[in-house]
Amino acid sequence: MATVGIIGSGNAGANTAFFIAEKGIANVLLHDVREGLSTGKALDLMEAAPVRTYRTKITGTDSLHEVLRSPIIVISAGLVRKPDMKREELFDDNVAVIRELAGALKVRKDDVKVIIVTEPVDLLTTVFALESGLPREAVLGLGGLLDSTRLRYAVARDLDVSAEDVSALVVGRHNEEMMGLPRYCTVSGVPVLNFMLPEQYESIMDETRKAGDFIAGMAGRSTAYYAPSAAVAELVDAMVRDTRRLLTVSLLLQGEYDVENVAMSVPGVVGREGVLRVHLPRLQESELEQFRKSARKMKDFLERRAG
Ligand code: LAC
Repeated sequence: MATVGIIGSGNAGANTAFFIAEKGIANVLLHDVREGLSTGKALDLMEAAPVRTYRTKITGTDSLHEVLRSPIIVISAGLVRKPDMKREELFDDNVAVIRELAGALKVRKDDVKVIIVTEPVDLLTTVFALESGLPREAVLGLGGLLDSTRLRYAVARDLDVSAEDVSALVVGRHNEEMMGLPRYCTVSGVPVLNFMLPEQYESIMDETRKAGDFIAGMAGRSTAYYAPSAAVAELVDAMVRDTRRLLTVSLLLQGEYDVENVAMSVPGVVGREGVLRVHLPRLQESELEQFRKSARKMKDFLERRAG
């Protein structure tokens, strides 16, 4: 069975391990900079196995070297937001660990796939993809998939239908600039605006945009991690089983919508090699402008930090 390495064993990392185990996707090797933490979490998770009946192995290690040998690596290390903080405010604290890991994984070239969860995810996915030099299809940031999942939940709740039957697409940034396009949101194939007014959809989109902030504000001591971990486990599953699901991931863009060298969420076919192909939905002129404006803001942010 494949092994997935998880760097950062806080809430997001440990819950990702749990969901991966429950679905029987892969064995998990957990790591954390705080010595002993991953070993303790791994033991706690394995002690649930007899009741939850998972057969996968979860192990903890203090050796970064060991976890860096895994074929799939999830990076969930770094600080999380306090209430009222913007994701971008974490950049200066979290970029150091992303740079260190990009340097360490440079040598792996074609035999590692990396999923970035650490915030601000689009900015850090950009830095990681550019500095590691790994093929762009091997570096996936968690963004649109989480936002689409949140949107699906809220649509299903409002319409009182099963969330399984709701399909949604959120592209662009994983922040307040995210774009959830109503014509690409359907309930069993029927566009959602057949069932609700545009104002109701807009209000659901507003809730989706603010979901991360709302949860951080309510919880006080932590940011969201159940839905983020579920989305990461879904990406890992698509890679391990080579399912070729069309999932929205933050990917280093190379000309998509005329944007280059920043990572933003677009739908991609996910399989063993990472993102095999991008399937771009058609955007209207105003949406294209909004997407490109987000890209320019990211570039400006990164240039200010570099300069
Ligand atoms: C959120 C964090 C993961 O959106 O940014 O909840």
